[in-house]
Amino acid sequence: MTVAAAPAADRLFEGWGKAAVAPAIGSWIGGHPRILFPVGRRFSGPSRDNAGVRLSEIMAMANRLAGCAQTPADSEVYLDGDVRRVFVGIDVDLGELLLARTLGADGVIAHHPIGSRARLGLAAVIQRHQVQMEAEGIPAKVAHEMMLARQRPVAHALQTTNYDRVVDAARQLGIPMMNIHLAADIIGRQFFIDFVGRVVDGRAPTVGSLIGELKTIPEMETSLVQPELWLGRPENPVGRWTVQMAAGTNGGAPVYRTYYEHDIHTILAMHIDDRDLRELEQLQLPEANLVITGHMPSDSIGMNRVIDALEQQGLEVIVGSGVIRP
Ligand SMILES: [Fe+2]
Ligand SMILES: [Fe+2]
Repeated sequence: MTVAAAPAADRLFEGWGKAAVAPAIGSWIGGHPRILFPVGRRFSGPSRDNAGVRLSEIMAMANRLAGCAQTPADSEVYLDGDVRRVFVGIDVDLGELLLARTLGADGVIAHHPIGSRARLGLAAVIQRHQVQMEAEGIPAKVAHEMMLARQRPVAHALQTTNYDRVVDAARQLGIPMMNIHLAADIIGRQFFIDFVGRVVDGRAPTVGSLIGELKTIPEMETSLVQPELWLGRPENPVGRWTVQMAAGTNGGAPVYRTYYEHDIHTILAMHIDDRDLRELEQLQLPEANLVITGHMPSDSIGMNRVIDALEQQGLEVIVGSGVIRP
């Protein structure tokens, strides 16, 4: 019997842009009765005596921080409950569930979708690539075709996954668990857009100097993985640039080729599969630059803003599973 390999989470998950909260992206918090903060609730700082916060309230908070009108399709409260001391990681598997319990956490928050609807919902969020391409002036028909070329293999891979393995375990262990994907990536993408805008606009720098500036971001300084130039030369001008994040996963060759063909010179992305990189290299576009910002430090930028908000609400946060918190 052939067992299909599960898609590698590191390659699939990333995030998507602000306009990503499209009608196609459903809300998964409808079943939870308490999704808004009670009026007048106050938190004065970390305290073990606070009454706890429900995970569904945390989801609503993250959505508000990112400007999401509803919970995106790749984010979900799998098992709701009050938490005071919460474990936050980029990826959560059975090991992290047991680790969290060992460390005395009463709830778990992941960045990447763990299972259930959120994991299967990743394909829908890849539609964000079309929105982002159109925002850069790429015709809708082309953007739609290229988005589908990226979405189809991901949807097929997800269809084969053992999608509820870890969620089943959380239910059996009785550990409240959720993931916050798009909202954190929207926050992270906006950080990069603001940062690159500050160091690039009006200065016409080279790609090499841009990478030097990116390395000064605290999450990057703390990370063993650094921003790198995977396509193009350091002396190339940055030119027209785009931050391609917050769209479920990276755009791969179909999407990035399309940007280059429409006069976007520099793409910043968290990651790309090697096969797609080879395909882009074969195009031999001398002015095309691909800056890979690094997966864990880049995801940490968004999640750290969420963690800051949790701590401001009085929660004790244990960071692990790849979160780089300078
Ligand atoms: Fe992400
Ligand atoms: Fe990611």
